[in-house]
Amino acid sequence: FLGIVGSEVNMPTYVVGGFVRDLLLDRKNYDIDIVVEGDARVFAKTFSRYFEVTCVEHKEFLTTSMFFRNGLRIDVATARTEYYEEPAVLPNVEVSTIKKDLYRRDFSINAMAIKLNQEEFGLLLDFFGCKNDLEKGIIRTLYPLSFVEDPTRILRAIRFEQRFNFKIENRTLELLKKHVSQNYLERVTGQRLRDELEKIIEEPDPLKAIKRMEELRVFEHLFPDSVVDDEALRMLDRYFRRKKSAKPKPVYILAMILLKNAPERSLDYVIKRYGFPRKFPDWIKRAVNISEKLKRTVQSGEQLTLRTFFYLLKKPEPEVLSFIDATLDDKASKLLHDYLERIERIKPRINGKLLIEKFGLKEGPEIRKILEELQLAKLEGLHTEEEEKFVKELL
Ligand code: CTP
Repeated sequence: FLGIVGSEVNMPTYVVGGFVRDLLLDRKNYDIDIVVEGDARVFAKTFSRYFEVTCVEHKEFLTTSMFFRNGLRIDVATARTEYYEEPAVLPNVEVSTIKKDLYRRDFSINAMAIKLNQEEFGLLLDFFGCKNDLEKGIIRTLYPLSFVEDPTRILRAIRFEQRFNFKIENRTLELLKKHVSQNYLERVTGQRLRDELEKIIEEPDPLKAIKRMEELRVFEHLFPDSVVDDEALRMLDRYFRRKKSAKPKPVYILAMILLKNAPERSLDYVIKRYGFPRKFPDWIKRAVNISEKLKRTVQSGEQLTLRTFFYLLKKPEPEVLSFIDATLDDKASKLLHDYLERIERIKPRINGKLLIEKFGLKEGPEIRKILEELQLAKLEGLHTEEEEKFVKELL
């Protein structure tokens, strides 16, 4: 139907980019990007006469997003060529043809279009040997300044390479390495880099991409003084395997693990650059400190128990917890989660107020100590009926 609307307004209409790539790879993709040779606003307006969509215009990019009631979104762009007044900032755009539009894209695998107008419905536009690259599994930039104009493509190249098990083509790899070493990543806003990092973390196997980033010396430019050694990789592996919720933000945990031994100035740098919370250095400090204590306990031959976690952790911040969990093997991690589940669920019936009223205690540290002992005993299986006896024995 997009093609019918295109023909009605006399615009050659194409679906482009990732959608075409994934169609040819037989992979699902619900991100539909449309390019028209004409005014995207007029297209969207006409489309909205037939379908109930909300249109949001992004004037500077000559793009209109159409939101359907069921959550589907289709972006319609006027075919454009982008030119950059300065490298690494967002481009200025100029109306153009589909061919030039495709040429300015990141990699050949993302630079194909399929025509949607009825007359030529389904026609694949492949000007640059893109389909061949896709079949061979090659990531290739289309023009030499690609990484200069948009250094986030350095991260995108790695992401696509690892996602599809492709290979970055030699010349592209040379350019990539050159631009990494010439500090092009430093020219991009922290937010754009953070977005790309988050996309990498969302991949089914982020560790592969992280290893490749390290091999290509990307991390030293993202997080100065980061260390990606075996221990960090082991922690990341555990974290990604066990991660079940988006809270805490995975990008914080990634950075905590890679920067666990970094000096304060590097932590200040990432806080400013990526908008991390001010507490970030504090999380690392606490997490490292507790992890070391746990490690020493295990090394001294002592078993990790609910009691160990109780005294070391209390109720840790989620960021600190995720880090600590990543330092533990599967068995210890299970015990930790058992502890967390119990501390949430099991509360003593006797509280501070009762200790004062019924047991005649005075407010102060003694009460806190008793409540702590009681809480621990409860975690370890003390029944509610036994609480009173337990407290009397303590007194
Ligand atoms: N694109 C580009 N340069 C970028 C980002 C995007 O040329 N830095 C182009 C590519 O043609 C890409 C399209 O815009 O296919 C859409 O980008 P995006 O939605 O970010 O990526 P997808 O290719 O759809 O990949 P994914 O499957 O990760 O969503």
